[in-house]
Amino acid sequence: MANHKIISFVGSDQGAWDIAAIERISGNPINMASRLSILKQNVSPGEFGNVGWIFKAVISNIRYTTRSEKTELDRDGRGLNQPEFDCAVMIPIKKSDTWWAMTQDERRKVFEEDSRHIAMSMPYLPFISRQLHHSRDLGEEFDFITWFEFSSVHVHAFDKLCSTLRRSKEWEFVTRESEVRLRRIVV
Ligand code: HEM
Repeated sequence: MANHKIISFVGSDQGAWDIAAIERISGNPINMASRLSILKQNVSPGEFGNVGWIFKAVISNIRYTTRSEKTELDRDGRGLNQPEFDCAVMIPIKKSDTWWAMTQDERRKVFEEDSRHIAMSMPYLPFISRQLHHSRDLGEEFDFITWFEFSSVHVHAFDKLCSTLRRSKEWEFVTRESEVRLRRIVV
């Protein structure tokens, strides 16, 4: 039976997003592709031309966010697909065995008390929308497919956020990361 919760991120020569650049941040790079399609189904490579990669993921429950943080995130966050959001960034991330060997409370400590992932990102919420996707339990090559949308006016703010996160303690546990910069194709 088809798993309708699986989302496929397909890098090929088709799709609603134009790939402007792919940058390897750490670990093995990903292949080149010219377009991205996001499909809410478990696709197979034969359905596309010139496939560079297909990453599968699901939208899962939160792990580390507290009630008060969630209330703030829900209050300040905007959804995806805002009319002025012409840019998107997809960042596949893998974390180390050491990260996954830790307990939930140990990971939360690194994620928030040491790295301030949520507190530091919160000010960006009014103009950067996000969706976290989990891949690890599907046996995929990345643990997460992160997705961000914003207006091109805010590209430098997004870059600053990424460089701050990448200097944090949490990122000492990131073993593989690539950044796919996208532009919405307007038809
Ligand atoms: C608007 C900016 C951002 C906000 C508000 C934000 C917020 C969050 C929150 C609340 C979580 C925890 C979800 C949970 O409780 O399970 C999370 C997880 C995560 N975020 Fe962000 N984030 C932002 C930007 C970023 C960026 C730019 C990256 C990548 C460069 C990133 C990568 C991740 C990853 C990989 C996780 C999963 C961590 C794990 O479960 O080990 N985030 N983010």
